[in-house]
Amino acid sequence: MTTPDSELAAAAAHLRAGRLVAFPTETVYGLGADATNPAAVAAIYAAKGRPDFNPLIVHVPDLAAAGAIARLDGRAERLAAAFWPGALTMVLPLREDAGIAPRVTAGLDTIALRIPAHPLARALLAAAGRPLAGPSANPSGRVSPTTAAHVRDGLGDKVAMILDGGACPVGLESTIVGLAGEPARLLRPGGVPAEAIEALIGRLERPAGGVAVSAPGMLESHYAPTAPVRLDATAPLADRPESLLAFGPAVPAGFARVLSLSPSGDLEEAARNLFAHLRRLDEDGAAAIAVMPIPGHGLGAAINDRLRRAAAPRPRTIQNQVQP
Ligand code: TXA
Ligand code: MG
Repeated sequence: MTTPDSELAAAAAHLRAGRLVAFPTETVYGLGADATNPAAVAAIYAAKGRPDFNPLIVHVPDLAAAGAIARLDGRAERLAAAFWPGALTMVLPLREDAGIAPRVTAGLDTIALRIPAHPLARALLAAAGRPLAGPSANPSGRVSPTTAAHVRDGLGDKVAMILDGGACPVGLESTIVGLAGEPARLLRPGGVPAEAIEALIGRLERPAGGVAVSAPGMLESHYAPTAPVRLDATAPLADRPESLLAFGPAVPAGFARVLSLSPSGDLEEAARNLFAHLRRLDEDGAAAIAVMPIPGHGLGAAINDRLRRAAAPRPRTIQNQVQP
């Protein structure tokens, strides 16, 4: 999919004027704003209905831009060399003179940085000439968008523009690694498998009490479709019709409807399809969604993390939207 230069120029002008532009990345679509503009950053929180204790990821074009905003130690440099541009976010000590609006970091002295790989994200960063704050472009608590149409459905009336780059090739948010202290910590499993990171910098600590404590955004219920979700399903329930999210070649019979994340059992394909399939089952009016077991290695860790959150008890605001 090609985007004309005029569209990119318009998007960059919106960003420099403090408006919101949704843009594709290789992970999910981001809701972009100039990270140096306090009013633009405030508009992100308002558009998403995001609690303001939950800090934002900042997208930068290159290592020089990252180094101007945060302090990168040896571990960060090694990870940057291996995984940037790409689906890795690092939480690093913030430089006080970086010029980042305080609400980006929710007042913390650390900042989450990522260099995205998607060509449209890179073109937008170059055209805007600003670091771009960019949470996933969905209303807070809902499933992340992996197409421009998903963004339009959730936030269409709240953005100046949506850049359409087609479906996101990874389909899950970035892996977040905390490097502001010792030891390095896995704050969110995501598009880069933790095993690949550990091969370079050693064992990542999994924060006790779950990631919720250290990545404020990792609230238990998140990535929630409207229908209730049942995990590790191997057979239909007798008493309620469910739609099945299948994985692998052996699909149990007796479900009202079946969508497969990957008929061949490929975890990358499953990651790419996860959010879009959850949405589709929801839109098609599933009374409930059952999900087959998915292996926990590689991208499976992030897939299972998102599914656990989709299945977690809902806060009231989301519960109220559940169809009777
Ligand atoms: O793939 C991605 O990471 C996408 C694309 C658009 O880049 N972005 C994304 O952003 O998923 P968001 O806002 O939905 O998730 C950012 C996560 C939140 O859980 C937040 O709490 C955490 O990053 N975070 C941000 N700054 C942090 C910090 N200083 N310390 C700890 N966690 C932080
Ligand atoms: Mg998000």
